[in-house]
Amino acid sequence: MVKKIKLAVIGSPISHSRSPEIHQDFAYQAGIDIEFSKVELSKSNLDDWVHSFFLDGGKGLSITLPFKEDCLSLADEISDRAEITKAINVLFNNKGKILGDCTDGVGLVKDLTVNKKQSIKEKSILVLGAGGASRGILPSLLKEQPKSIVIANRTVEKAERIAKEFSSKASQTSKSSNLIASSLSFEALKDFEFDVVINATSVSTNPSQNLNLDESVFRNTSLALDLYYSQAFTPFMDLADRAKVPNVIDGWGMLVEQAAESFFLWTGFKPDTSELIAKHGE
Ligand code: ATR
Repeated sequence: MVKKIKLAVIGSPISHSRSPEIHQDFAYQAGIDIEFSKVELSKSNLDDWVHSFFLDGGKGLSITLPFKEDCLSLADEISDRAEITKAINVLFNNKGKILGDCTDGVGLVKDLTVNKKQSIKEKSILVLGAGGASRGILPSLLKEQPKSIVIANRTVEKAERIAKEFSSKASQTSKSSNLIASSLSFEALKDFEFDVVINATSVSTNPSQNLNLDESVFRNTSLALDLYYSQAFTPFMDLADRAKVPNVIDGWGMLVEQAAESFFLWTGFKPDTSELIAKHGE
């Protein structure tokens, strides 16, 4: 009998995760059998659980918030792109070695540019949040050569740290002097205009929390994206919609695209994503 490939998604909270159904769809396309579990962990049992998973024959893990930075130290090796992001959303066993990679950024850019036909070249981008989710997307956003990227965060020092780190990387990897990430507090945002606003905070995962964002931030915005996905609009998406932003999207397309990249790393099969992306909301 052929053994099932053992996979899982880990995070906290995790009950909302639709990763199992996405990967089961990919497995069906590939004609392979997988066992895909959804596991809620805490920071205190993360290391032990991950080690046992791989010791027990697990092949791959999808990592969601808030463990994208914590899991970095659990890999034997990390990819070049994860070396830059310092945050990973995938771990997998490759011939006995546990490799860490980050497929979030490529997933996001594929969804924006290919599926949604939204170019971000020469655009001014605001990224809200300075945690693992922001780290995961910044290098891929910078590669698209936007006019500028501003990172705003409730704790401004964290935005400053990440902006400094990524602006020096941008100047090393690109000839364009435009790719400068700078940092701001939420209050300072009222003095600026942005073509694209991305919510990479964890606020949308928690209904009791509020971003305290002023609607004026969207006054010149053509695209607002919440990295979170849900059946209904998140408060961030509602705010953008009220401000008449023409394109308001959530992270469903990005989730499917990053999952497809991860599935490829685990199995060598590149799934078709179009039907799943169109099925959002069902
Ligand atoms: P993730 O892996 O999703 O990025 P994280 O590393 O815990 O998770 O980061 C969460 C991000 O959401 C941080 O930027 C956090 O801001 P702080 O650095 O100030 O903590 C942001 N965040 C969480 N709750 C928030 C709130 N109520 N208002 C504004 N930002 C919030």
